[in-house]
Amino acid sequence: MNQSDVIIVGSGIAALQLANKLSKELNVIILTKDEMTAGNSYLAQGGVAAAVSPSDDPYFHYLDTMEAGAHHNNVEAVFEMTKKAPELIKGLWQSGCRFDEDGNGKLLLGMEGAHSEKRIVHSGGDATGKHMVDFLLTDLGAKVSIGQTTLVYELILNSEETRCIGVKAKLADGTNEVYLAPHVVLATGGCGQIFSLTSNAETATGDGMALAYRAGAELADMEFIQFHPTLLYVDGKTKGLISEAVRGEGAALVTAEGKRIMDGVHPLKDLAPRHIVSQTIYDYLRRGIQIFLDITNLQDFSRRFPTISSLCTQHGIDIEKGLIPVVPGSHFIMGGIKTDLQGRTSIPGLYAIGEAACTGIHGANRLASNSLLEGMFVGGNLAEWINRHPAAKEQELVFYNRPAESFTGNRSHTLFSSELPDIAMLKQTMMDRTGIVRSKDLLVKQSEWLAQFNIEEWLVAELDHMQPSQLNTLFMYITATLITQSALERTESRGGHYRKDFPLEDNANWMKKQIIHQRKKVK
Ligand code: SIN
Repeated sequence: MNQSDVIIVGSGIAALQLANKLSKELNVIILTKDEMTAGNSYLAQGGVAAAVSPSDDPYFHYLDTMEAGAHHNNVEAVFEMTKKAPELIKGLWQSGCRFDEDGNGKLLLGMEGAHSEKRIVHSGGDATGKHMVDFLLTDLGAKVSIGQTTLVYELILNSEETRCIGVKAKLADGTNEVYLAPHVVLATGGCGQIFSLTSNAETATGDGMALAYRAGAELADMEFIQFHPTLLYVDGKTKGLISEAVRGEGAALVTAEGKRIMDGVHPLKDLAPRHIVSQTIYDYLRRGIQIFLDITNLQDFSRRFPTISSLCTQHGIDIEKGLIPVVPGSHFIMGGIKTDLQGRTSIPGLYAIGEAACTGIHGANRLASNSLLEGMFVGGNLAEWINRHPAAKEQELVFYNRPAESFTGNRSHTLFSSELPDIAMLKQTMMDRTGIVRSKDLLVKQSEWLAQFNIEEWLVAELDHMQPSQLNTLFMYITATLITQSALERTESRGGHYRKDFPLEDNANWMKKQIIHQRKKVK
């Protein structure tokens, strides 16, 4: 058994910001199921949104975030984050993290969809996430230890079930290990991999949401999935993101004949909110018409976008020809484990930060480049909170009121009435029925398809004997079920949730109303 002060599950921006800001006195362990850099943060291209230019103001950033989020956002949270954003950028800069600047020490700012100002701070052109993660990794304190290839598969509650006190994990050699701490933080990222078309890393399988749901935490807003309009599309598969910053520099979405598809659809045209652009592209694809990003007017493309250029070359797309084939795909979940601005969940001792969490900041659709920002903001807030409450008396006690053998799997392997099928079917059916355009018919079909796998049984099952790949599959099925249920329940369209049978926002009934999932009450 392994004991520390703080367990952080996951290794993206939010996790690393937290680890860096925690008191150097605390013993911290980071557990991650792959390598430290295998998550979505490392892939983030666009940058970090912050009102740092003289013509900008945090209030404008606030307004843009609310508008993109279809006013489903938590107003106070948006206000606090947009106000803090310039200070967070300044803090990183002062500690040595470099962002792209002109020759005179002025930050170069990019433009992205639904922003009213140029405010995207970026690094390495289009490699902002990689630069920030690499930077934060160099600065971890001596008391931070790391467990890679360690898949957390269960949260441990104390015997009264009033507090989370640790996790169970599978190690690379197949053995199980128990980790205990008064503070357990889920920073496991999103769940883009449950859809067949996605920009997400292989690791984004909804683990944190499934873990928290099994344990009895509240989850919210699971129906709000952001489909990014432009993923590179080659041989019928998505091959990674083509940043919105490319459209911010002037690229346009066109048909093979050169018709600009966003003209007349939205006043912001190619920089309209992501759900509008994704739905428009989807409509063309449905009719068998491939859409391209026309980059012919962009100067110095490969210098400004080195990551995207090499991605295209790697997949046989000649950027000199100026047309990049694209499709929309799942990119970000606005919902997740419900938390406050400190990352506290409904279970004492359990926290969630980054994409796994739902602070309400993103509302029904996240504004571009607000995700790294949210990770830094809430990760920092949680560090301050834990530093002030390192271990309350009751927290120390919880370790002694549960017999040690109850942590490890001594129950017999549960037999299930059905096995979970391969994830390919899950990904395809989620994309087709719970994707960019939804309807009651499609959602009911998906709900019934999922129901045959008896997820309810898996929610209480003993998992100690399962292999990592089976556990990942299970987490994907649990998360997919929650998304489908929420999407069925929300009878309106808002942000990332579009129902063709309810195409309009229903502000009389749904404004700011959240769909909450909670399997059982934790006192
Ligand atoms: C992008 O670069 O288009 C993605 C940035 C984001 O999702 O915020």
